[in-house]
Amino acid sequence: MNKIADHDAQLYVRVLENIDRAVIALNHEGQITLYNPAAQAYTGISEKQAIGKPFQDLFLGQKNLLYLVSTALEEGRSISDHEDLMLKRPNTPPLPVSVSVSPIYTDAGKPEGAVLIIRNLSRVRDLEKAVRRADRLSILGTLAAGLAHEIKNPLSGIKGATQLLAMELSEQSPLREYTDVMIREVERVNGIIEELMDLARPRPPQWSPVNLSKVLGDIVLFQKEAHRGEKIEFQLELDPSIPPLRGDENLLTRLFLNLIKNAAEAIEKQGQITISTKVAQDYHLTKPGNRPVPMIVIEIRDNGKGIAPETLEQIFTPFYTTKNKGSGLGLATCQKIVSEHDGLLKVESTLGEGTLFAVSLPLLTDKPGLFPGK
Ligand SMILES: Nc1ncnc2c1ncn2[C@@H]1O[C@H](COP(=O)(O)OP(=O)(O)OP(=O)(O)O)[C@@H](O)[C@H]1O
Ligand SMILES: [Mg+2]
Repeated sequence: MNKIADHDAQLYVRVLENIDRAVIALNHEGQITLYNPAAQAYTGISEKQAIGKPFQDLFLGQKNLLYLVSTALEEGRSISDHEDLMLKRPNTPPLPVSVSVSPIYTDAGKPEGAVLIIRNLSRVRDLEKAVRRADRLSILGTLAAGLAHEIKNPLSGIKGATQLLAMELSEQSPLREYTDVMIREVERVNGIIEELMDLARPRPPQWSPVNLSKVLGDIVLFQKEAHRGEKIEFQLELDPSIPPLRGDENLLTRLFLNLIKNAAEAIEKQGQITISTKVAQDYHLTKPGNRPVPMIVIEIRDNGKGIAPETLEQIFTPFYTTKNKGSGLGLATCQKIVSEHDGLLKVESTLGEGTLFAVSLPLLTDKPGLFPGK
C-alpha cells in the first residue's frame, strides 16, 4: 500500500476543508465516509448527521442525484450532470448545482466506493439571468428609441394646438379644464419618452470616486421628506470601512433612488425599508487580465407587498408597471446602470412579505492601470 507522508495527509485535509466544492465520499455499500465543510454548507446537513448514513437515505427523493451515484457505484464509471440539477435542502430553497461522481478503486484495482463533487451554480445562474436581461433590454431599448422619436413630433404638435385652443377660450370657460388636462398629460407622455430615450442613448458614464454612504444617506433624507406623514421607517446599516468606489455618482444616485422609491411605493400602510452595505467576502469579479476584486453588496429590503414569482423577471422589462402613474422604466434603468458598472442586480421577493434588491458592485478604487479600456 502506498504510504502517504504525514504532511501530505495534512495537505489533503486542508484542501478538502477549503475547496469551494462539496466533496462527499461513499464506501461500496453507499454509506457516507467523508463530508467536507462545503458539503455541509450546500446541503444544510452536518458532517455528524451524514457520516455512516446510507447516501440514498440522506438524499431520499432526489432521483437524479441517486441515479448518478448508483451508476458510478454499480458500473464503476465516472458520470456527471452539469445541466439542471437542483439540490433540495431542508428549510432553504433548492440550490442549482452541477455534480460529478467518480468511482474509487484501491491500489489493487478493487472497487472501494465513489466520490461526489458538487459545484454551487447559483452565482453562474445569477450571471446568466443578468445577461439575458441586459440583452432583452438592449433590443427593446433600440426599438423603443426609434418609436420615441416618431412619437415626440406629433406630440409637440398636439401640445401646440391645445395651447392655441386654450387661448381661444375665455378665462372662465369650463372647457379650460379639458385643455389643462390635455397639456398636462401630453407633458407626462413627453417626460416618459425623454426617460426612454435616455435609457437607449449610449452615454459614457463619468467615472469618479463615489462615497456610497453619502449617496445613500442623501437619498434617504430626501425620501423621508417625500414620504413625510406616511408610516415608513428607513433604516441605514452602512459599513463605514468601505472606501470610495469608482463609479458615476449621478447614475448610482439614480439607481439607488429608483430602488428605494420602489420600496417605499410597495409599502401600503406602514412598513420598514432597510438599506445596508457590506463587502462580500466570497465573491470576486474577474476580468481576463485583471486581478480579482472584492464586491460591495448594497441591499434594499422592504416589507411591502412583494412580487409574485411569475412576474419577477418581467419587472425589468421597459414599460412593465403596476402603478397608475408609473412609467415602468425605473428597473430597466437600474439594470442598465448596474451593467455599466460591471455589477450584478438580484431580486428576491415573497408575495405579501416583502422584497430584497441586492446590487453587487466591484470595489474598484481609482488607481491608474486597474481599469484598462474604461
Ligand atoms: N420593492 C418592490 N416591491 C414590490 N414591487 C416592486 C418593487 N420594485 C418594483 N416592483 C414592481 O415592478 C414594477 C416595475 O418597477 P419600475 O421601477 O421599473 O417601474 P415603476 O416603479 O412602476 O414606474 P417608475 O419607476 O417609472 O415610477 C412596479 O410597477 C412594481 O409592480
Ligand atoms: Mg420605479
